[in-house]
Amino acid sequence: MQTALENPEIVSLAAGFVDQQSLPVEVVDPAVSELLADPIEGRRALQYGTTIGDQALRSRLVGELEREGGIPAGTYRDAVPRTVVTTGSAQLIYLVCEALLDPGDIVLVESPTYFVFLGPIETRGARAIRIPIDDGGLRLDDLEATLQRLDAEGQLERVKLIYTIPEHANPTGISLAAERRGPLVEIARKWSRKHQILVLEDAAYRNLSFGAAEPPSVWSHDTRGDTVILARTFSKTFSPGLKLGFGVLPEALVDPILDLKGNHDFGSANFNQRLLERVLGNGSFRRHVERLSGLYRRKCSTFLAALDESIGSLDPEIHWTRPEGGLFVWMTVPDGLDTGFDGPLFSRCVREGVLYVPGEFAFADEPPPRPRNHLRLTFGVPSESELVEGARRLGAALSACLDSVA
Ligand SMILES: Cc1ncc(COP(=O)(O)O)c(C=O)c1O
Repeated sequence: MQTALENPEIVSLAAGFVDQQSLPVEVVDPAVSELLADPIEGRRALQYGTTIGDQALRSRLVGELEREGGIPAGTYRDAVPRTVVTTGSAQLIYLVCEALLDPGDIVLVESPTYFVFLGPIETRGARAIRIPIDDGGLRLDDLEATLQRLDAEGQLERVKLIYTIPEHANPTGISLAAERRGPLVEIARKWSRKHQILVLEDAAYRNLSFGAAEPPSVWSHDTRGDTVILARTFSKTFSPGLKLGFGVLPEALVDPILDLKGNHDFGSANFNQRLLERVLGNGSFRRHVERLSGLYRRKCSTFLAALDESIGSLDPEIHWTRPEGGLFVWMTVPDGLDTGFDGPLFSRCVREGVLYVPGEFAFADEPPPRPRNHLRLTFGVPSESELVEGARRLGAALSACLDSVA
């Protein structure tokens, strides 16, 4: 990011930011004016709120889950007291790690996974173990095999969490198949012999589908409400500047998480919560998300066409995902080509004027070694013409590196 900021002519396919032009100034402006037009409501919004978050917003968030799931209003009423508003989903997933993980504990993560999540696991002194994915997301047979192995090694008690990003995942763009979602909850239950193994469903990219309906959440399969932590955010679908997310927690986690959140900030920005409640209520959030998924659909299809054009015929071992939502494309290059910061491709890309995120960051350490032949690319920030140019430069860099490897 530093390199991109210092060199504005560089095309950054690296930063996982949202499209700058899409940010909803036209939606937020009237909502702020309305919020402040009534002095009582305005002062309420400018005052501290509660640690758990604004009651009206929390009810509305649960209502949104019902609407998304196409189920009658009121079905998830019991989830409102278990719904906690957080400062982005980053805060929630950090707090979950703080509440659950002791040194030596184990988190099972997708391979590859959201690299930022590996930080809090490491901070807690816990271990992240990779579970392979395929086109349908997390492989449940591998998940079971790993649990079986850990059980045989006397390590099952250390397994506290299974972490999944079920929609248009960061970094691959791949989604968890509908038919794996219920069984994932069942597997977590089945192996919860002496303690509950929880599933952390990080749905950061939910609602950013390019058209196809998204399957019911993993959380919706947790009918007892004790196995899945649902983490949601408005950073991708609305505005990361508001930095608002929320979690729906198993009952047993609510107080521990609120105690920790109390220590962190005793409540997320109240003004932003009142604002979000307004845009959710008046329908402008939903209209914005529709526009946004149309925009990302166009950008993604331009980018994929440009990759086909510039890279498609370079080497049969180079391939990439074709996401149906979200912001990311995951590219695989031949095994011997190191995509890391110190490898030949990255420096060649900087010379060509294009940046990507080396894929190695997205792999947990265990089992070693971490693969080094992947790139995370994003079409979120660059314009369509920059995406075409970025693909051309990446193609030129790849071509030069493949020549020197050959
Ligand atoms: C998978 C995933 N989870 C969580 C987050 C955190 O987002 P925020 O804290 O802004 O809600 C991100 C941000 O990039 C993400 O990609």
